[in-house]
Amino acid sequence: MEIKTAEFVSSFTSYTDCPKSDIPEYAFVGRSNVGKSSLINMLLDRKKLAKTSQSPGKTQLINQFTINDNWNLIDLPGYVFAKVAKSKRKDFSKLINDYILKRDNLICVFVLIDSRLNPQKNDLGFLRWLGEKQVPFCMVFTKAYKLSSSAVNKNLKYYKKEMLKEWEALPEIFISSSEKKMGRMEILEYIDKLNKTVKL
Ligand code: GTP
Ligand code: MG
Repeated sequence: MEIKTAEFVSSFTSYTDCPKSDIPEYAFVGRSNVGKSSLINMLLDRKKLAKTSQSPGKTQLINQFTINDNWNLIDLPGYVFAKVAKSKRKDFSKLINDYILKRDNLICVFVLIDSRLNPQKNDLGFLRWLGEKQVPFCMVFTKAYKLSSSAVNKNLKYYKKEMLKEWEALPEIFISSSEKKMGRMEILEYIDKLNKTVKL
């Protein structure tokens, strides 16, 4: 898919503030600092459209972008604050969960997993929750550049094994690096395919 236009629409503090929309929407979610905002910029080929930071907790609102005038991307806050003082932590889970469960035009949630970290209970817990709620999702392993494929595969294998304990099929899985534009074509093609099949 060619990205012809990519516009920041607005930031919202709650899903109830998001204007009703009848075009397909895709949300990027995952722990803080996993690279959600960076992945959005990489996919859209815009360096600073979504705000990124080295310190976790940069994205604090529901940020909406409209692409090619016919689909939306949503940049969400992180669901865990790693390495942040307790006093500075904010719990974004209600904002994220409400948005995911109630947004009518949300087609697929992209769950980002940091390839560099050992499998995390919170990530697995979040995937389980999506499964229980029957929310369509796929997975993106981020920051994969420079990691040996055996390290990424070890992580992948763990998640696959855990998920197959509860479900019969695995979701679509992508491996990405925002630095190297790894995974860009695959993710955009997947969105393109969904855009062509969904009826809202
Ligand atoms: P929050 O908004 O705090 O939830 O974080 P986020 O998930 O949006 O992460 P963000 O995109 O702001 O990136 C966090 C840090 O990871 C930044 O320092 C990025 O430069 C870095 N980063 C993101 N993607 C990659 C990647 O593919 N490779 C490497 N090496 N660094 C990355
Ligand atoms: Mg962010």
